[in-house]
Amino acid sequence: MPTLLHLDSSADLRTSVSRALTARFATTWTEISPDHLVVQRDLHLDPLPHLPTNALHWAPRLRTADEVVPADAEQLQKVLIEELTNADVVVIGAPMYNWGMPSTLKAWIDYVQVSGLTSIIDEPTQPLAGKPVVIVSSRGASYGAGTPGEGTDFEVPSLVQPLGVAMGMDVTVVTTELTLATRLPALNPFAGQAADELEKAAQAMVDLARKLGAA
Ligand SMILES: Cc1cc2nc3c(=O)[nH]c(=O)nc-3n(C[C@H](O)[C@H](O)[C@H](O)COP(=O)(O)O)c2cc1C
Repeated sequence: MPTLLHLDSSADLRTSVSRALTARFATTWTEISPDHLVVQRDLHLDPLPHLPTNALHWAPRLRTADEVVPADAEQLQKVLIEELTNADVVVIGAPMYNWGMPSTLKAWIDYVQVSGLTSIIDEPTQPLAGKPVVIVSSRGASYGAGTPGEGTDFEVPSLVQPLGVAMGMDVTVVTTELTLATRLPALNPFAGQAADELEKAAQAMVDLARKLGAA
């Protein structure tokens, strides 16, 4: 059964762009065949607790003798890593909050990027290497070359580094910018550009879901 892990983290349950795009991906995925399954985790509606201890960042063999991990936290980490391991493809709704990712999504990253277990530290441990992950980054302003925001997108690098570099997953990033063009009068002139970007991102969801779902 080809399985998609569908994560959302937007705090906007009414007009979220990232939620609309990841939903488009998931719908396309399920349309490929009745066997195509979706496992959904809403990190905003069902937030994870912050890591209760730094020991969870380490594979058990790399923990120090005096590091104690609460059993429920260890179990939660196991569930999250299993969910990721069992998925064939992952799609992540990642709105830009304060030039980074929402804290709800960061909490998930903190549970699943585990040195010596899911990422390399002293041995070549990258069990998730090559697994496709599609990051959908929606942002109110613009961060392309020549814009005032150029060089200040700290969200995408901080997702690509743990997932793509440390864990070796096969990351594709889809961005859609200027989502605040209809809310903020100063950005109104960019409404057309925002609509074009959104349309392109929606098409990218369909194309990627079909391609990755057929693989
Ligand atoms: C807490 C918060 C912080 C935000 N910070 C930024 C930011 O740093 N840069 C930006 O371009 N937009 C920022 N925005 C706007 C969101 O990125 C924008 O509304 C985006 O569409 C959110 O994704 P969503 O539509 O999926 O909810 C922020 C919004 C919120 C709620």
